[in-house]
Amino acid sequence: MDLKAIIAQMTLEEKAALCSGKDFWHLETPERLGIPSVMVSDGPCGIRKQADAADHLGLNASVPATSYPTGSCMACSFDRDLFRESGETLGHACQAEELAVLLGPAVNIKRSPLCGRNFEYLSEDPYLTGELAKNYINGVQSQNIGVSLKHYAANSQEYNRMSSDSVVDERTLREIYLAGFETAVKGSKPWTIMCSYNRINGTFAAENKRLLTDILRDEWGFDGYVVSDWGATTADRVKCLEAGMDLEMPGKNAANDKQLVEAVKNGTMDESVLDTAVERILSVTLKYLDNRKPETVIDFEADHEKARKIAAESMVLLKNDGILPLKREQKIAFVGKFAEAPRFQGGGSSHVNSYKVTSALEAAKDLRVTYAPGYAIETAEPDDAMIAEAVETAKNADVAVVFVGITDAMESEGFDRKSLSMPKNHEALVEAVAKAQKNTVVVVMCGGCITMPWLDDVRGVLYAYLGGEAVGAATLDLLFGDVNPSGKLAETFPRRLEDNPSYLYYFGDEQNKTEYREGVFVGYRYYDKKNLDVLFPFGYGLSYTTFEYSDLTVDKTAMQDTDTLTVSVKVKNTGAVKGKEVVQLYVGMPKSRTIRPDKELRGFEKIELEPGEEKTVSFTLSKRAFAYYRTDISDWCVESGEYVIMAAKSSRDIACTATVQVESTTAIKRVYTMNSTVEEIMESPVGREIVGKMMAASPLAQMDDDGLGMGEGMERMMMEMPLRALISFGGDSVPEGMGEMLLQQLNA
Ligand code: BGC
Repeated sequence: MDLKAIIAQMTLEEKAALCSGKDFWHLETPERLGIPSVMVSDGPCGIRKQADAADHLGLNASVPATSYPTGSCMACSFDRDLFRESGETLGHACQAEELAVLLGPAVNIKRSPLCGRNFEYLSEDPYLTGELAKNYINGVQSQNIGVSLKHYAANSQEYNRMSSDSVVDERTLREIYLAGFETAVKGSKPWTIMCSYNRINGTFAAENKRLLTDILRDEWGFDGYVVSDWGATTADRVKCLEAGMDLEMPGKNAANDKQLVEAVKNGTMDESVLDTAVERILSVTLKYLDNRKPETVIDFEADHEKARKIAAESMVLLKNDGILPLKREQKIAFVGKFAEAPRFQGGGSSHVNSYKVTSALEAAKDLRVTYAPGYAIETAEPDDAMIAEAVETAKNADVAVVFVGITDAMESEGFDRKSLSMPKNHEALVEAVAKAQKNTVVVVMCGGCITMPWLDDVRGVLYAYLGGEAVGAATLDLLFGDVNPSGKLAETFPRRLEDNPSYLYYFGDEQNKTEYREGVFVGYRYYDKKNLDVLFPFGYGLSYTTFEYSDLTVDKTAMQDTDTLTVSVKVKNTGAVKGKEVVQLYVGMPKSRTIRPDKELRGFEKIELEPGEEKTVSFTLSKRAFAYYRTDISDWCVESGEYVIMAAKSSRDIACTATVQVESTTAIKRVYTMNSTVEEIMESPVGREIVGKMMAASPLAQMDDDGLGMGEGMERMMMEMPLRALISFGGDSVPEGMGEMLLQQLNA
């Protein structure tokens, strides 16, 4: 069908109506022209298709669907292929459920561990976020189903999420909060993108032309439609449309549709603005309609197994002093209610009506496992009798596995966490069991990070995150070593909440402004720079085998920033079992004159190695790997100088390094003024010659000759002196008009 011809047949009222939903989940289409309405659904870690009563908080039931591990869990896989595969599976299921768009992935940056929605987000690192999101999107869209990349942008808190103002400087926005979106948009062309609820530097995302049009479309080449988060459209619908926010959800907001009609009629908005939005929405809808396959069948059992595989590839082994893997012949006590009723998904719009859930207890039904709940889920208060029962059960076994975490009441979309602690009854259970049973392992089920005051008292910790509906089977796969753990943390676990860089500003002020004052120093970028001890660093995770890195090589030692650099490193499995390793590549510039992180993740590869096997892993680095965002030229820029390339097992475990000299090709013309310092002027040959002479003649230089012993300090003082001061201190020795003449030559 010819899109332009369809639009030409639509009335003004029909076009305005098409720019908001038909109802909570359906899109308006010109049905009289033979285009049926289509449905969209959450996302991102399973399908939440609400056939009956609709809501955006996950309250009402949806059709049964496979619940996959949440973003925070799956990101720890550091596995692009897994993300693509999971996207394909979800896209396939969307075809079966007749959904045109899956509302995800959610890629906001984890600024604070308190964000109630961190469980849905991928990482504190924009590179990892962008790479994984890109693959997920390519997977979903390979099935001719669209995604909605969300929530654009700087939406890193749930507190006052619908009104707060994220005040972020341009460089931080570009390097941290937009970079993941940018990679995903450029690398996978999402069919739609969802704008967030919040304001960004004073302007609501839905009205933010700079974000929705100038950056998203003009710079990054986005060509789909922008949909509002549910209820994010402001009272000024015309302004939203003009900014580039095409589709308002949910529908049907007759008053807003009317605003659009009126604006065209009274000439305040050109009809072409409306036509453009209609064209964008319809073209995505037609892309789906032209390729729908309603006869598709979902194999729920096969998908359950996929969920199990993803979970086992993602969960992170944080501590193991040799207690793991467990042996099947051991007498094992499972304690903690989560062993029986696991927490495996988050609350809110991503909540899935799971097809089936496998608990650890169920997965262990053929083993010698005893069980005691140890706490009740509905309360945080320790129950002495339940703890005593759990302690007895633990004592009578060879090993105790304690299942604890954070409850739904403490962590969800819609509100933030209050602390990093687990509920008191979970903490008390771990402490009591660890005292009674020296062989204690803890399995944590939680969407984000926690503090672990009991860490030294237990022998192993497996971080299951929110592992999806097959969580129990996946946990056992790892505990017994049927699968070798390979997950690495996609976020830093600080020792205390107070150590987090956003701690002082996170909840904003009385004007509802949340200032992102820590700037680019988010996650490991901050902890590394401050040299702070952390509980577990970004990129950390153990395996049942060991890996050795060697021979890091770079294909050149000097290059221009328009070249690419090939980096290779050898990795060998030096242990006794097969295993997977996430090889991480960081880049840093130790002598940078720019305020920037010590190192930033610029590459990663997950490889599998048999015992004794060695592989060479290669990476290609281009300009962006060395660049920072320079606000005075509104562009990415490389500072000339020496960069260190680090191949690492985690952000705090650098295995090998190499260096490369990178020369910037960005010509930045400096404008010299009377306030330019001597040091700046001396960077130019003309300046070096003239100012060098002036300095030699300066009384300050004489003073130094007089042996006052100011040496190096004096030289610094002179270098930092502005031209106007140098002239003034020079007195009669500086001819009149000398400064102006010098500036003329410097700026010529
Ligand atoms: C959430 C979105 C979700 C939408 C529809 C909103 O409250 O922020 O992520 O896609 O509801 O359920």
